Amino acid sequence: MPGQPHVAYRDGELFVDDARLGLLAKEHGTPLFVYSKASMLAALAAYQRGFTGRKVQICYAMKANSSLGVLQVFARAGCGFDIVSGGELERVLAAGAVPAKIIFSGVGKTRTEMRRALEVGIGCFNVESEPELEVLNEVATSMGKRAPVSIRVNPNVDPKTHPYISTGLKGSKFGIAHERTLGTYQRASGLAGLQVVGIDCHIGSQITQEEPYLDAVDRMLDLVEVIEGAGIPIHHIDFGGGLGINYNGDQPPQADQLWTRLLSRLDARGFGQRQLMIEPGRSLVGNAGVCLTEVLYLKPGEQKNFCIVDAAMNDLPRPAMYQAYHQIVPVIPRSDTPTTWEVVGPVCESGDWIGHDRELGVQPGDVLAVLSAGAYCMSMASNYNSRGRAAEVLVDGAKVHVIRQRETIQDQLLRESLIK
Ligand code: LLP
Repeated sequence: MPGQPHVAYRDGELFVDDARLGLLAKEHGTPLFVYSKASMLAALAAYQRGFTGRKVQICYAMKANSSLGVLQVFARAGCGFDIVSGGELERVLAAGAVPAKIIFSGVGKTRTEMRRALEVGIGCFNVESEPELEVLNEVATSMGKRAPVSIRVNPNVDPKTHPYISTGLKGSKFGIAHERTLGTYQRASGLAGLQVVGIDCHIGSQITQEEPYLDAVDRMLDLVEVIEGAGIPIHHIDFGGGLGINYNGDQPPQADQLWTRLLSRLDARGFGQRQLMIEPGRSLVGNAGVCLTEVLYLKPGEQKNFCIVDAAMNDLPRPAMYQAYHQIVPVIPRSDTPTTWEVVGPVCESGDWIGHDRELGVQPGDVLAVLSAGAYCMSMASNYNSRGRAAEVLVDGAKVHVIRQRETIQDQLLRESLIK
């Protein structure tokens, strides 16, 4: 499929690599997330190609998909991880991550989270405010440690993406304003519990153009020159994540081509051999996954025809949250004349839609595949309407690993109690 070379029709049936999706739906039920390990590794390889001969640590932004089996693929491939909570820290450690390759982003780190991250020895805290700097210093000092820090700078660059996923603009809650950066570094370098190691930024997500990155690189390098000019060495520069994927004809730059161009900008300014870090999420997993869902009912109407499927906004929250587009295709196409459907889930909200105006020839019982569902779907899934979260399988060559069993109602009730 476009943008998803690991998802393809063979003899009239949709496959992920060598796995027949119709068969997987029968064996494991629906909704079911199916991921291709080969696709994840191919996406990682594109970044690695772009960085040949450079010093770079790729830290997978695990919020995109934090299932243990997925984390394991990246840990085994030598990746570091970008985390944003104590929960993500424990998850990624359980998946075999090397603590020194973990960086901790996020505007609201708690003392408990900081303590645990210092205890296991993470590589860097990406600090997002001056008060956070003071608290981290206190926590580290109380443990007799020095916390490695990088300041997240808000470069005030428009990533030209959905407003909810733009993070590097002035009005955003993320990072420290460009103008206050030097002062913040001076403060950090004077605190005994901190050790300045880097600088970082992250301007947004699903970025499909090159210019915002080039602008951010220039602004970051300007800052590094100023900070180092003031006598504070910056060991690494972290450019965050954000590279988009092809959902519906989007044409983001390829990771290797983008980085070849960004690196030539770094070279021109004399930073080509600096230790670099990046935090890609979506571009490593987004197009490695599909969500299989069964058609429950067809409900033709006067104004709209509804195709009601068994996946909903609790499984696939992106359409409801960002008006996001995911392609929807039949696993076994029919020869019936297609009809225009509103593809919707069973959740009791009008916002529970998966796709508007989709041309599909479908019958109840058919299985549909919602494409590009590897990123920000399962990791954002909820139990709304007391729906159990879906199962997940990872296709690995000829093997299919169940990496998450379907959540049962017992799982959901486990931590709740009736009043006495
Ligand atoms: N680093 C930081 C500090 C981030 O906040 C993010 C994403 C990333 C890296 C990874 O960005 P990526 O490479 O995945 O674009 N739920 C939204 C996306 C939210 C992104 C949040 N931050 C969606 O479904 O579109």
